[in-house]
Amino acid sequence: MEKCAVFAGGLHPTPAPNQISGPSRTTSVKLLPTPFAERTHFSPFSPKFPKLSSHSATYSSSNINGNPIRMASPQTSSVTSELDDIDWDNLGFGFMSTDYMYVMKCSQGEEFSKGELQRFGNIELSPSAGILNYGQGLFEGLKAYRKHDGNILLFRPEENASRLRMGAERMCMPSPTVEQFVEAVKFTVLANERWIPPPGKGSLYIRPLLMGSGAVLGLAPAPEYTFLIYVSPVGNYFKEGLAPINLIVETEMHRATPGGTGGVKTIGNYAAVLKAQSAAKAKGYSDVLYLDSVHKKYLEEVSSCNVFIVKGNVISTPSIKGTILPGITRKSIIDVALSQGFQVEEREVTVDELLNADEVFCTGTAVVVSPVGSITYLGKRVTYGEDGIGRVSQQLYSALTSLQMGLTEDKMGWIMELK
Ligand code: COI
Repeated sequence: MEKCAVFAGGLHPTPAPNQISGPSRTTSVKLLPTPFAERTHFSPFSPKFPKLSSHSATYSSSNINGNPIRMASPQTSSVTSELDDIDWDNLGFGFMSTDYMYVMKCSQGEEFSKGELQRFGNIELSPSAGILNYGQGLFEGLKAYRKHDGNILLFRPEENASRLRMGAERMCMPSPTVEQFVEAVKFTVLANERWIPPPGKGSLYIRPLLMGSGAVLGLAPAPEYTFLIYVSPVGNYFKEGLAPINLIVETEMHRATPGGTGGVKTIGNYAAVLKAQSAAKAKGYSDVLYLDSVHKKYLEEVSSCNVFIVKGNVISTPSIKGTILPGITRKSIIDVALSQGFQVEEREVTVDELLNADEVFCTGTAVVVSPVGSITYLGKRVTYGEDGIGRVSQQLYSALTSLQMGLTEDKMGWIMELK
């Protein structure tokens, strides 16, 4: 893997000669030899951060929302997409490779201590790695926004850090501290700053991964772990954009079971929904809404997001009880709704209530707040409102996104500014 130097003098005035230390004593970013002649001229904290050269790469063409993007072939994994080719007005939720990724490793029984920024590229794993064989892995998702004044904003990154730690405990993995996680996110975002969409055009999606990277054969926790962060510019998650989505309630397959791992962000939870999701998409639905596996009548969540129903002034969402992911957008929307005078209930919500709701919407980092236009349950289709965009979901969407993009005052203390 080709590695690249980074200089962070902007953040830490007196860095050690070969390390960038974050505020945490235990977090540091190694400075590696750089292949660039102008190595002293660039920094992830400077607008002069260089565009990586791509002239020696083998490319394959790819298409993101009809916009051709050149992608590095697997053999030339350190090459990034071409920034100039991006149609910022039509970003979807597709992967685009960027400049740098953050990597930090530790052995089982030890603590994460030293991370480094590497040029983005493929990673090497033993075929016997715990993540590949036994699914010992977690991921997170958060976003960075570019503000008109040049600031870069992160939304509640410490919440993702805490959730990763919770998941790591469930999956028998060591995890970075909250401070290490947040520092690593900052480094990665700043190193890839040029990939953050212009204000109002989207965000930089940040994908932290924690995986058992060491080799195992018998079923056991892996002997080595890797914490990695990569990023990709994104727009709307659903192909519907901001228009209402159409969900089908799945009655046979379940996303999670009591005592299982539904409440943590382990990779297997997402592979498990692909079959139902693919079948639903083939029939023209946007996604699947799952029911509880015991009674088959209480709402759980959608494949990639939490669900809320609105009846009058009351907003209800399934309570967190082990089978439902504690979404950070979910939690934030609850607080925003309470601050706007709604009554919010976290409880068991039945399918009947869903079908009789005034409005339904989904929340998640990727989906933000997505209005639901229709629900299909056992062949019966229920639609919401005239055009499906409910007043409440619209109001909450505006309040949340204005905060995230720095357009309204952050009275909640949720925004972290990077400049
Ligand atoms: C997110 O909303 O960030 C997620 O992790 C969901 C993922 C399936 C895109």
